[in-house]
Amino acid sequence: MRKNMVAGNWKMNTTLPEAQALISEIVHMVQDETTGSEVEVVVCPPFPFLLPVGKLLPEGGAFHLGAQNCHQKASGAFTGEVSAAMLQSVGCEYVILGHSERRQYFREDDELLSQKLKAALAAGLKPIFCVGETLETREQGDTFKHLEKQLQDGLFHLSNEEFDKVTVAYEPIWAIGTGKTATSEQAQEVHAFIREQLARAYDAKAAMATSILYGGSCNAQNARELFSQPDVDGGLIGGAALKSRDFTDIIKSF
Ligand code: PGA
Repeated sequence: MRKNMVAGNWKMNTTLPEAQALISEIVHMVQDETTGSEVEVVVCPPFPFLLPVGKLLPEGGAFHLGAQNCHQKASGAFTGEVSAAMLQSVGCEYVILGHSERRQYFREDDELLSQKLKAALAAGLKPIFCVGETLETREQGDTFKHLEKQLQDGLFHLSNEEFDKVTVAYEPIWAIGTGKTATSEQAQEVHAFIREQLARAYDAKAAMATSILYGGSCNAQNARELFSQPDVDGGLIGGAALKSRDFTDIIKSF
């Protein structure tokens, strides 16, 4: 069966000492407070802190290291960029791709993201592929059409074997960092739709085995309600991932 997952996207936050303090607190809290169900915890700090944060994660447990982005090429003259193989070599297991901030501020489109997915998979990373609509798209009633296109153009070029490694994150853009969370009914409706699309593109078994995370102002107060929905398998957490108490409470929300 698919796994429960909570991924913390630290975005461009923390200094090295802050990052080390934050992860140490989270690890201790999670270890001290037994969680009810099994959860995979993915921590995604900024690039320079991957190695030192990774060193503070207990081996073989719930914790896994992830990056927030990677370049689409394997190596070469791309000043300032970071390849998937580099991430893999410092202990990353996951990489977030297609986050709405990458799409919006860095003009990453589905064509580019499809190349990034390939590059990540070729290096042995497991992608967390994000999709989501703007408020305008939602109000126009085009949410499903929009998500269908993002999945079709960004993700569905992958083979069955490649798709096996993918986690999907639904992040309505209007809910990211705004304090405006999708209701659990809104989240469930979209997650069920995404799973239907996955089943259509691959098969029902693959769709049932894929974790679909919700992201967008998910916090310690609303996580339990969101995660109790049948098609919500966890969360991609921004702001609340920077607070050890809140993040631990979210992890304990299954
Ligand atoms: P938020 O961000 O939890 O701060 O809304 C979520 C995300 O962007 O992944």
